[in-house]
Amino acid sequence: MHVRRALMYMPGDDMHKIQKAISLGVDCICMDIEDGVAANRKTEARATIRQALQELDFGHSERLVRINPAGSGREAADLQAVLPARPEGIVIPKVREAGQIAWVSEQLTDFERENGWPEGEIALLALIETARSIVNLREIASADPRLQALIFGAEDLAGDIGAVRTVAGWEIFYARSAVVTYAAAFGLQSIDMVYMDIHNIEGLRAESIQGAGMAYTGKQVIHPNQVQPVQEAFTPSDEAIAQARRIIEAADRHQAAGAGAFALDGMMVDAPVVKAAERVLERARAGGKLASISTGSASANPPGG
Ligand code: COA
Ligand code: MG
Repeated sequence: MHVRRALMYMPGDDMHKIQKAISLGVDCICMDIEDGVAANRKTEARATIRQALQELDFGHSERLVRINPAGSGREAADLQAVLPARPEGIVIPKVREAGQIAWVSEQLTDFERENGWPEGEIALLALIETARSIVNLREIASADPRLQALIFGAEDLAGDIGAVRTVAGWEIFYARSAVVTYAAAFGLQSIDMVYMDIHNIEGLRAESIQGAGMAYTGKQVIHPNQVQPVQEAFTPSDEAIAQARRIIEAADRHQAAGAGAFALDGMMVDAPVVKAAERVLERARAGGKLASISTGSASANPPGG
């Protein structure tokens, strides 16, 4: 699965911004045909994205397209226009129920078969941004094997439930927690909300660290200045990696001596703490910071695990 610390949007009808995003080396480039594009510019956006996919070298950046919602009446034309240029993934906005994901997946399967491409190669990412999306998270998260990530859309969600967005964010906190929890339960990546204040980098940093702490694996970005702070926040620091290694090494020693719980620097360490440390190393590895790691505590999968 592609590393997706920062998922960057730009209006699909803006070739300059697509090129700009490529020059930044951002993990994922998501060319938009939905809300970032005016209603009378959808055709231009489809054509521009197709041309970009065909002509530009995206380097290590993932090539994603956000289509209009399944059921909007625009989604079929979006797919028809961009699929021939072979994007790596499709972002489906405003997913309310599993059937919308299944429908897009069927279109992709038909397309892959017609072109002789490996079946299932095009990934799906679902935007969770309505009240119905939250209520139906279980069926959405398990809708299709192509689904790799849940993306949390805070602005649309607040609008949908009739809440007023605040800096503290309590009005969206249940939904933000639900998305990351369901993603973890179903083995999906989770990509946190957009930070709208593009000039406030300190605020962005704080919200990114908070999202990473909640176990989000990445965050949506909308401006070049947001890429570096976000990618950094979703990659464990050298100190965090060193501390995780210390915990795992100490746990291995204590396990060998027959102790499941012990104290390290005055803090109790037991199984969940060790698991959290292993997650830090996993994220470091995913972010390209560690080549390969032996955690020394590989566990067999129990039944139903
Ligand atoms: N992707 C790539 N490049 C971007 C970008 C983005 N999302 N946002 C801005 N840039 C580029 C600009 O084109 C400009 O390039 P230049 O210096 O080569 O001319 C540079 O970064 C600085 O941009 P700036 O002037 O600070 O911003 P702006 O006023 O041009 O644009 C927004 C502000 C909000 C309109 C713009 O950031 C944007 O389009 N964001 C994404 C919107 C979107 O896709 N929304 C839907 C998903 S939520
Ligand atoms: Mg939205």
